[in-house]
Amino acid sequence: MTGADADTLRSALVQHLVAAGTLSDERVAAAFQAVPRHVFVPHVPLEVAYADDVVPMKQNRAGVLTSSVSQPSIVALMLQQAAVRPGDRVLEIGSGGYNAALLRELAGPDGAVTTVDIDADVTDRARTFLDKAGYADVDVVRVDGEFGEPGRAPYDRIVVTVTAWDIATAWWRQLRPEGRIVVPLRVRGQTRSVAFDLVGEHLESRSTTMCGFVSMQGVGAHYERLVPLDDARLTFDEDQEGEPHPEKDVLELHREQLWSGVQLQREEPLLDLYLWLACTLPGYCILNGAEWSWVAAVATADSVAYVSTRAGRDESHVELGCSAHGPDAGALMESVVDQVRTWDAKQRTGPGPTFQVHAAGAELPAGFHIARRHSYITVQWEDRAEADC
Ligand SMILES: C[S@@+](CC[C@H](N)C(=O)[O-])C[C@H]1O[C@@H](n2cnc3c(N)ncnc32)[C@H](O)[C@@H]1O
Repeated sequence: MTGADADTLRSALVQHLVAAGTLSDERVAAAFQAVPRHVFVPHVPLEVAYADDVVPMKQNRAGVLTSSVSQPSIVALMLQQAAVRPGDRVLEIGSGGYNAALLRELAGPDGAVTTVDIDADVTDRARTFLDKAGYADVDVVRVDGEFGEPGRAPYDRIVVTVTAWDIATAWWRQLRPEGRIVVPLRVRGQTRSVAFDLVGEHLESRSTTMCGFVSMQGVGAHYERLVPLDDARLTFDEDQEGEPHPEKDVLELHREQLWSGVQLQREEPLLDLYLWLACTLPGYCILNGAEWSWVAAVATADSVAYVSTRAGRDESHVELGCSAHGPDAGALMESVVDQVRTWDAKQRTGPGPTFQVHAAGAELPAGFHIARRHSYITVQWEDRAEADC
């Protein structure tokens, strides 16, 4: 393959991202056109380097992916969320080199980009590839990103490219007033890239998009709580330590079902509904197993209920409902179905959730609060009726 082939494939990738609606900002498109992605993934063929796909870079001993060069469509969406301006000082947490080069293009000659990674293999590789691609002026530092990189702060933009469960204190401190942080934030089993602006003493979300990233290592690592059932498991967040859960054989108890009448397009995403249930129902968790793949559930000390579907009014629809096992089945199904109907009436076509982050100890706004190590995440929902006004 020649250099011209790489240019052609790169243009085709840009056109694909534009046609798919993930790349709409002209400056970000120009950056994608300028940065040779294949230089950052030399171990794969050019066609793979310019496919809209993640390129795995490193696994740990257990075979879990710990580093990758991210999928171009996610990179594009996050760069658009970040809205980097010429002259901005930018910190990237989680290196690979490729995204740092894109950030360097966007920050321009008067800006500065620092990229940090916890893994020396990654920073060594990023340094080599950035130099080779002509971005020797990107600073590459090996450090646990939980602590940011104070030596080059303050930053106008912080772009986190690894799944975070919290907004580390260092990130707030190193952000300029009115600065922006874009972070893949994991809440109740879902990861959304959230663009937060620093507004006074707290962060307010400006946009969100669903995404998936490798998990943060180091001091900010987080472990979800897994509760084994027979042939299945329930997953709770770290802050749900006190939530009760049923015995392992609960799914073998008699199953009851209740249907909501809410019809859903087969392809319609359920993630906002699931987050709504997480915000409104105690005992929210995720059910996985032989028969269930990532289903919203609620648990008590002796029962479990989970979202179910059955054939809808025609082939392209399903009806939402709830299945449950255990002595609390009736009450759990009523509450799940009630919230499915409320979501359908008030949220389904609304603007979706917004997020605020406040430091521990600060006065919290109205909303659903999730306590994290350094902060409180507040999820807020505007009713569709209010949003339409
Ligand atoms: C998805 S990769 C980053 C992709 C990259 N930004 C690119 O250009 O495509 C995530 C990276 O985060 C790193 N990472 C994980 N935990 C970290 C931490 N606490 N601090 C800094 N980097 C971390 C991993 O080593 C991995 O290289």
